Amino acid sequence: MVSGKYVINTKKSTLNIKNFVEKFITTTRIKVYLQQLIARQSMIQLLAESDKNPMKRSLGVWQLIALGVGGIIGTGIFVLSGKSAALFAGPSIIISFIIAGIVAGLAALSYSEMASMVPLSGSAYTYCYATMGEFLAWIMGWYVTLGNLAAIATVSVGWSAYIVNLIQVIFPFNATRSFILSPIKWNETSQEFISTHAYINIPAIVIIVVLTILVFFGIQESSKVNFVVVIIKIFVILLVIFASLKFIAPNNYHPFIPKNEGHFNSYGVTGMLHAATIVFFAYIGFDAVTNVAQETKNPKRDLPIGILVSLLISTVLYIGVCIVMIGVVPYKRLDSSSPMDVVLKATHLGKWIIIIVDIGAISALTSVILVNLICQPRIFYSMANDGLLPQFMAKIHPRFKTPWIAALITGVICAPAAGFLPLEMLGELTSIANLFTLFLVHISVIIMRFTQKDVERRFKVPLGPFVIPLIGALLCLLLMITSATQTWIRFWVWMGLGILIYFCYGIRNSKFNHKKVKDSSVTIATDVTPPYADGLSVHEEEEKKHDYFI
Ligand code: ALA
Repeated sequence: MVSGKYVINTKKSTLNIKNFVEKFITTTRIKVYLQQLIARQSMIQLLAESDKNPMKRSLGVWQLIALGVGGIIGTGIFVLSGKSAALFAGPSIIISFIIAGIVAGLAALSYSEMASMVPLSGSAYTYCYATMGEFLAWIMGWYVTLGNLAAIATVSVGWSAYIVNLIQVIFPFNATRSFILSPIKWNETSQEFISTHAYINIPAIVIIVVLTILVFFGIQESSKVNFVVVIIKIFVILLVIFASLKFIAPNNYHPFIPKNEGHFNSYGVTGMLHAATIVFFAYIGFDAVTNVAQETKNPKRDLPIGILVSLLISTVLYIGVCIVMIGVVPYKRLDSSSPMDVVLKATHLGKWIIIIVDIGAISALTSVILVNLICQPRIFYSMANDGLLPQFMAKIHPRFKTPWIAALITGVICAPAAGFLPLEMLGELTSIANLFTLFLVHISVIIMRFTQKDVERRFKVPLGPFVIPLIGALLCLLLMITSATQTWIRFWVWMGLGILIYFCYGIRNSKFNHKKVKDSSVTIATDVTPPYADGLSVHEEEEKKHDYFI
């Protein structure tokens, strides 16, 4: 028999146990939730994936340098340089390019250390997953995506300007601007969008559609083709520099930093810094080298060389172009989407040189669009494969072996953006997104030096773990700060959207976290960095899916 007293005690203790269990479940849930946000993919797993690489390692150091230059030289120098000089920096655009080059150079050092440690495709997103956990990796992937999408649209608008120019140089006529421009334009003085009286930029849409179709059908990323395009780019830039040298009028360099005109971005030191943020766009693309980590013969040695040398070559060429551009034409006249044409027209060297340079610019811009159209589906693929985006985005076309849905989504987003949005807006968005991702890469390097001391690094950022990554991170922030308010608003809207998607979708579907919870049957995920219990089977699964690539 059970006494009444005993029954009451049992009820009490049942209540206590219930409270305890509820409390335990709640705290455990929060703990699991928090642990999920900071859960890192283990280095052991990543290095195992890198060792069991399913792709063919065929690229050497020269191909990597060519790939870097192929991804870097494009709209930044052929289009944005002129507008940035005319509207913001004046002759000090030369300094803007040097500042942006330094920021890119420091980022390249951090990127190189990461690439030499984790030689896997997936780029910054993968590095971040290994250092800062799932949530920040998602944010990183989300901003890499913004950077790529905005870059594709920006470069396509630049491409459109050059193709229209070329047609007009060959067949002089007054084309209607209704179908070759975006309907809106940003007015720096009134700080508002104004109408351009055009409807849509058709050539920009056409180039995206055509290249998306190519990527869909599995265009081979032929390093030979890229090599040829790179030689053309370098030749054209050297042609502009040497053909224009003797037309330089030293007066055009004065005043070197024009007086600020009252608005933060119009000339003066702040205008020069703002221009640096915009022309930072010109240096974006060296990370393309890291995207082929798994196709590189000796990635730990060659990736850093590819990144750093391609950046150095581009920087020297950019500064050369700026010096002649400013020297030949008064800077206010450079407010054009094809400033090289403005410079060459002023030299009166003849139509032929403009035609050559325009053809060179068009092929350069085509290659940048193509590289980005190839890279972005890879990022979507990696994120979908990790469960952070819907599975269908990781689907591989059975015949063409391409991530066709991810490729189509990329094209479908970029085409209207290029057709309706102005170049300056897209370019600034690309720059701020890339500066943010580089900021995170710098921080990752610092964290890795402490959390992954023993992992081999064939390349190390010089001067210890703090100096360069910290200066680099601060410079990224400095350039981000000088972005226009409107750009910041777009940056935060993108952030909000990213956080919303992660908490509504990614956190529930993350394969990495589900696997961890399943693997640790009793205690829930106390260790945030265990290697997968069955890493090989994950790898094998990956291997099957990875077969597709280019
Ligand atoms: N750096 C590349 C360009 O300038 C994105 O087009």
